[in-house]
Parts: sequence; C-alpha cells; structure tokens
Amino acid sequence: MKELRREALHWLCEVEPAAKAAGTRALAAAVASAVTADAAVVDISAALDPMASLPGRPARPLLVSPKAVPIRSVFTAEGRAALLHAITHIEFNAINLALDACWRFAGLPPAFYLDWLQVAGEEALHFTLLREHLNQLGADYGDFTAHDGLWTMAERTAHDVTARMALVPRTLEARGLDATPPLQAKLARAGDLRAADILGLILRDEIGHVAVGNRWYRWLCARDGVEPVAHYAVLARRHAAPRLRAPFNLDARRAAGFTRDEIDALACAAPAHPTP
Ligand SMILES: [Fe+2]
Ligand SMILES: [Fe+2]
Repeated sequence: MKELRREALHWLCEVEPAAKAAGTRALAAAVASAVTADAAVVDISAALDPMASLPGRPARPLLVSPKAVPIRSVFTAEGRAALLHAITHIEFNAINLALDACWRFAGLPPAFYLDWLQVAGEEALHFTLLREHLNQLGADYGDFTAHDGLWTMAERTAHDVTARMALVPRTLEARGLDATPPLQAKLARAGDLRAADILGLILRDEIGHVAVGNRWYRWLCARDGVEPVAHYAVLARRHAAPRLRAPFNLDARRAAGFTRDEIDALACAAPAHPTP
C-alpha cells in the first residue's frame, strides 16, 4: 500500500456516494491489514487535476444556506426522515473531510495518514448504515436539501494542518459528541430504536475521531512550539469557528482526550443556552 494518499484523493473525487463509501471502506480495511505507508510522506499535490472540484459529490442533495434547511419534528415520518437525511449528509461530508486530511497535508508521520484513513473508513460505515435506514423509511440520500458547513471549514483550513485539526475534529466533530445523546433519546422517544442504535455506534466511533484530532493537534503544537490552549483561541478567531455552546458531553470529551484545562475553559467560555 504505497499510494495511500493518492488513493484517498481518488475516493475524495468520487462523485457517486455508494461507490465512495464502499471504496473508502475497502481502502481503509486493506491499509489496516497491510501497514506499509513508506510513501505517505511523498507530496502528491500534483496528483490533483486542477479542474477537479472537491469533493466529488452527487447532483443531489441540493446545497442551500444553513438557514434554508427546514427544521421538522422528529415525531412525524417525514420529519424523522429529514433529520436522518441531515445526519447522513454530515457523514457523507465526514468521509470527504477524513480523506482530505489524508491526501492534502504532506510531510507528516505515516501514523497521521493511517489514522485519518481509519477515520474515513468509519465515516463510510456511518454513512452506509444511515442511508440503509433512510431507505427503510422510504427515503434516500439526496431527497432533501442540505447545507455545506462542514466542507466550508475544510476549505478555510486547507493550508494549515494545525488549524484543520483544531477546527474540524476538535471543534465540529466534538460538537457531534455533545449533540448525539439528546438526539438519540429523541429518536428513541419517537419509536425509532434502530436510528438510536446507529447513533450509539456513531458516538463511540466519534470519540475516537476527536481523539485522533487531539493527538495530532498536540503533536503539531509541540512541533511548532506553540501552547495548545492559547493557539486554539487564535485559530478559532482567525477562521471564524462557530462558538461552542453548552450543554457539553463532558464524559465523551474527556474520553476523547481534552485536558482538564480545556474542559474548564469550555465551562467559562460558553454560557448555557436553553434547549428547545
Ligand atoms: Fe461519523
Ligand atoms: Fe467522525
């Protein structure tokens, strides 16, 4: 497996969701069973077709502004399908984000690429499970509109791997740790135990993804001689990261490797806001 990063770029460019998910899972499985990533440090930026628009994605879902995505009740069949579609879209973007981390940033230790490829494989599983469940409800990926907030942050941090680690896994994916348990409870209350189960599996994996982000964020800060907590504040301001809002899933955040200082800083920085 010498061409791990080139392969990651290939699946990032893939347009068809099922092919992207299957190809990404197969690549992650192959790499996990035959770990030789000697070539991972090779700069492959020339491998990207200058005309390619990243990421590869299907014509649908139609992308709209976040404010234009309607919020529907989870207690109606259509509303539940819309909610699950939104999460399915997050997972589709998450495949792209992990593949992008894997191909875009040259010169890092092989373990960096292996970590992100494993994450990509897990995101592809999440996408697949959610899409299958959506199909059971009579809907499919692409049936509703979606927004592109996650990929926007990938573009803002495309030239700074430290910012990418700080603001994608440690900020956006970490918000998923906070959001998932209440969502799980809501779906269970609506009688969709399968969806609640899938979210349970996703939550467990996402703790690992945030941990990967924490590990490499700290590694990069140590390499560059910057203090992680202070530097996070600089990066969050520079790239207009969304403000973190309570309530936080502190257990999951601790399990994902946030330090006591970082957990304490959350409590000071983010006044609780009423949950609907
Ligand atoms: Fe995921
Ligand atoms: Fe993730």
